[in-house]
Amino acid sequence: MPEFEILHKDLMGRIGKLRTAHGNVETPTIMPVINPNLMSIKAEEMKKYGAEMLIANAYIIYRKVNLREEVVKEGIHSFLECKMPIMTDSGSYQLSEYKDVEVSNKEILEFQQRIGSDVCVPLDIPTAPNVKRERAKDDLEVTVSRMREARSIIQNEMLAGVVQGSTFLDLRGESAKRVAEIGFDVYAIGGVVPLLESYKFDTLVDIIMASKMNLPLNAPVHLFGAGHPMLFPLAVALGCDLFDSAAYAIYAKGKRYITSDGTRKVDDLHYLPCSCPVCSSYSVNELKESEDLLASHNLWVTFEEMRMVKQNIAEGSLWELCERRCRAYPALLNGLKQVTKYAWVIEKYDASTKKHPFFYLGATSAHRPEVLKYFYRLNRFKLSGNVLITATVGSKEKEVESGNYDHVFSVKPPFGPYPVELAESYPVGQSEIPAEIDNEAKTVALQNVLKLLELNKGKAKFVFLYDSSWEGHPLIEEIEKYAEVGRRK
Ligand code: GUN
Ligand code: ZN
Repeated sequence: MPEFEILHKDLMGRIGKLRTAHGNVETPTIMPVINPNLMSIKAEEMKKYGAEMLIANAYIIYRKVNLREEVVKEGIHSFLECKMPIMTDSGSYQLSEYKDVEVSNKEILEFQQRIGSDVCVPLDIPTAPNVKRERAKDDLEVTVSRMREARSIIQNEMLAGVVQGSTFLDLRGESAKRVAEIGFDVYAIGGVVPLLESYKFDTLVDIIMASKMNLPLNAPVHLFGAGHPMLFPLAVALGCDLFDSAAYAIYAKGKRYITSDGTRKVDDLHYLPCSCPVCSSYSVNELKESEDLLASHNLWVTFEEMRMVKQNIAEGSLWELCERRCRAYPALLNGLKQVTKYAWVIEKYDASTKKHPFFYLGATSAHRPEVLKYFYRLNRFKLSGNVLITATVGSKEKEVESGNYDHVFSVKPPFGPYPVELAESYPVGQSEIPAEIDNEAKTVALQNVLKLLELNKGKAKFVFLYDSSWEGHPLIEEIEKYAEVGRRK
């Protein structure tokens, strides 16, 4: 039986079932980071928030000899008093931070194996963004060789292969390809924490895509260090399935209150705009005084957002969720804009029809994968004779004139031309656009009109009628090269 089974898909996002030695986990999911030195919220208690799997740092346990021996003796599940699947991180990040206790790839892997980790992680080198290329390449060679060594050590447990390569997209691609060749149960995209911290979401999108395009599609992908819920819709839409969150605790320590569209300083709160068990039982002042309450709220909203993401996948409206969330913050909008540059990739994996209507929610909607898919399929219209294309709102005129034509098309932004017979069909007929549409949608629609004209050049004779709402659009001049163009009131 495969370890990862995909149940629903939308865009490149999926709801999946991951089978582990400690039971099944439904993805996408967030693994709260359990720090055995802190443990203000107990591992088993994470279940109530919706956690199905946890992550712990093997190095943090390993570097303290007493703790190390205790966990080896008991096993990680018994030590944390928890029956949920537990992934362990090798601690590559912490190792570079503390540097006090040296550990090799082999040692930390065998340690993870001995404590009964459900998913082990080799000792990769997290290369920072924007380093010199040579550095990124040298680090990558070490990481790949450690991945290969890891695969020979760990054969029965699940093992994650880590993708590095800094901000060099070709190195990310190469890294993903080489790791995929070795073959892992989970793939993890690493080295992105500084990008998350500096809100470089467009670069993050590039890195995820460069990796995903070279990883097997039927394997789960973990985005290391991404624990803020505002990023979940975007990252899941690109095919990330697993997330880890220390954010809930780190933000609480910094007196920060997480929401699905950003973070607020708890001291700036006048109200609690949330209905989680904490926010509905305590006052603003009580939250200001308690790191534990704040951490608990942060966990509630984190899991709430993941459930929202899953619901949107199941109903086919994940893009709409991305649009809403990414409009909360300009840096997130940069991320979403960057996603539209990969519409040609996402389109290949996205369903041809969806239950949910297409909602036009702003300029980024004009470049959705669904719109590009429509463009690719314009060649299915094989036209001959006289063809009328009307970009007009009034329908009476259309009825009068259509009698003389072999084919009649209307134009609906952002899709463009569609045969009137398909007025009710997906996607055009199932799309809702605002009464006044922006120029981006009109441009894409007219580009698609042009495409239809070019595809049928010399085979059909076109008349294109438009009304005042299209007046002055520069592409109308282009259309005049292929069609008789008329302006209607
Ligand atoms: N945690 C956050 N980023 C990373 C990474 O790049 N590698 C590992 N192993 N853990 C991480
Ligand atoms: Zn709350």
